[in-house]
Amino acid sequence: MSDMMSYFLLIVGCVIGIGYIFHNLVVKGNRCTSTAKLHGKTVIVTGSNTGIGKKTAINLATRGARVILACRSQQRGEIALAEVMEESRSKEVVFMQLDLGSLKSVRTFAENFLKTEDRLDLLINNAGILLQGKTEDGLGMMFGVNHIGHFLLTNLLLERLKTCGPSRVVTVSSVGHNFGKIDFKCLNTHKALGTGTSFWQTMQIYSDSKLCNVLFTHELAKRLQGTKVTCYSLHPGAINSELSRNSSNVLKALLKPITAFFFKNTEQGAQTTLHCALQDGIEGLSGRYFSNCTVRDLYPKAKDDVAAKKLWELSERHSGLV
Ligand SMILES: NC(=O)c1ccc[n+]([C@@H]2O[C@H](COP(=O)([O-])OP(=O)(O)OC[C@H]3O[C@@H](n4cnc5c(N)ncnc54)[C@H](OP(=O)(O)O)[C@@H]3O)[C@@H](O)[C@H]2O)c1
Repeated sequence: MSDMMSYFLLIVGCVIGIGYIFHNLVVKGNRCTSTAKLHGKTVIVTGSNTGIGKKTAINLATRGARVILACRSQQRGEIALAEVMEESRSKEVVFMQLDLGSLKSVRTFAENFLKTEDRLDLLINNAGILLQGKTEDGLGMMFGVNHIGHFLLTNLLLERLKTCGPSRVVTVSSVGHNFGKIDFKCLNTHKALGTGTSFWQTMQIYSDSKLCNVLFTHELAKRLQGTKVTCYSLHPGAINSELSRNSSNVLKALLKPITAFFFKNTEQGAQTTLHCALQDGIEGLSGRYFSNCTVRDLYPKAKDDVAAKKLWELSERHSGLV
């Protein structure tokens, strides 16, 4: 073999080796170490027909929980139902239709749930969308689905969570919340976090909606003081899921090799949600934000008491709660 060829093979070997080590040490991240069993407990996972939500549902069903798959599409929901039942080997899995972009659908879901189920031990607000547009109630799509839908759902189910305490509300946010801002003027005039439709404006509004998730959890924890319900928000990591399905084909093609190598798979992406849902001893951290199964400090804007209260009151109006 020529020297040239030997060097080439050495370099290829080093790149593969470093890539392997990087992938296993950095990308995979921490895992939820709880061995909790959930027989007799009921959980709701929103947006559980795919992605992080589906893996979360499979894990919780495997632990014995009765799992409600709260998904907007009957067809996708029923396909997921069969998969979750098969993978978890559990019959305690139910599909219930929930479109977070429709206040009517959220109310109907909550009514059906409260009528047909006795318990609620865990509410996992997982669903999310990265797409501009309007909900059927005229709210900005990402504000409506990512925040208001979950805000209303949580409030409608809060009494049941309190009755079943100790219980938890886990809301899947994103590290993107760090770039978020809450434009209260725009929310009052347009019922949206922003109005632009360019790529950067869409990313900005997505980040804004994820800041809403963190502020919602911050305020919810205060309102739950003295009850046995605790709540957490989290960043799941950068996950190779369907979240960017509405992006342009060019962007998707560019992202594909990056996501395949640098992003976690959806099972790894479910770990911080599971940690927040199951880990013993984090009750004193109610209202806090987690990433890689670890509690994290927030920038002041993400734990701003005044903004959180203002967002809560505005959300009560936009969701029709008051
Ligand atoms: N992927 C990442 O890198 C990443 C990073 C940070 C945070 N997150 C957050 O993680 C969560 C899960 O996302 P994912 O990555 O698993 O994405 P995904 O694969 O696209 O899954 C999103 C889920 O949300 C559902 N959903 C969307 N709009 C809905 C609506 N109006 N009503 C009910 N359900 C709706 C989707 O249902 P359909 O299939 O019917 O559309 C799907 O089940 C989201 O909150 C996301 O913001 C993801």
